[in-house]
Amino acid sequence: MNDSPVRHSSDAAISPELLRQLAYNEKMAELGKISAGVVHELNTPLSVIVSAAQLIMREDGVPENVLEMISRISSEALRLSQMTKGLLHFSSHDETISEVDINLTINFILDFLNFEAARRSITVLTQLDSSLPFLRLDANALKQILLNIIMNALQAMELGGGKLLIETAHEDSDSVCVTITDNGPGIADESIERIFDRYYTTKKDGEGTGLGLFVTKNLLENMGGKIRVSSRAGGGTTFTLVLPI
Ligand SMILES: Nc1ncnc2c1ncn2[C@@H]1O[C@H](COP(=O)(O)OP(=O)(O)O)[C@@H](O)[C@H]1O
Ligand SMILES: [Mg+2]
Repeated sequence: MNDSPVRHSSDAAISPELLRQLAYNEKMAELGKISAGVVHELNTPLSVIVSAAQLIMREDGVPENVLEMISRISSEALRLSQMTKGLLHFSSHDETISEVDINLTINFILDFLNFEAARRSITVLTQLDSSLPFLRLDANALKQILLNIIMNALQAMELGGGKLLIETAHEDSDSVCVTITDNGPGIADESIERIFDRYYTTKKDGEGTGLGLFVTKNLLENMGGKIRVSSRAGGGTTFTLVLPI
């Protein structure tokens, strides 16, 4: 492989490694835009399925077992339709400050990552404090933060059979905290100071960009929050997000 630096238009040298990462990010961004279109297309057929199923269920003399199947079709289509709407909203570029229910946001992201957890046989547990107040912040940024941290935890438990625990609680009188604990391989002492650095990754090419925690930390600080990590090699990892009320 040729490892000499590549030049781009402004004539600043970038390493082949950085080029690979930028190219990968760019590809994923394009894919994201295409997926948003596909997801949008899914909305119409899903609504048709939901309303047709509901019409059938209102018919007289439909056998009980058929009703049961139709009702499952209806509820699954409704779930998909809510997910695609959520996905569209999340993919938007707008920064919208609103009143956010942190527990609902966590459940939204978990719905999303259901498949990622299931294919690694990971058990996901939540302990969400229902007495928490609404938070005034950018909901999409919060989703991105949660997605990054939880996806990292799932990837860390690649070998399967892991456990993920997500808790919400009051931190103090003017902030709440979210803790995300996995029982994956943990982070060695020599890497823990570097995980928030731009482009720091221990993942294979194409699997990690090293931007997740860098972006997460900056988004959080931007909204007046903080992130803490505690981990031991072999002993799992806990990330704590502190968010202002
Ligand atoms: N839950 C975790 N368990 C073990 N290591 C982790 C965990 N979360 C993050 N890391 C480490 O931090 C690094 C940086 O994470 P991140 O910035 O999200 O980049 P990426 O996921 O693209 O590698 C990861 O490559 C991994 O080594
Ligand atoms: Mg990551």
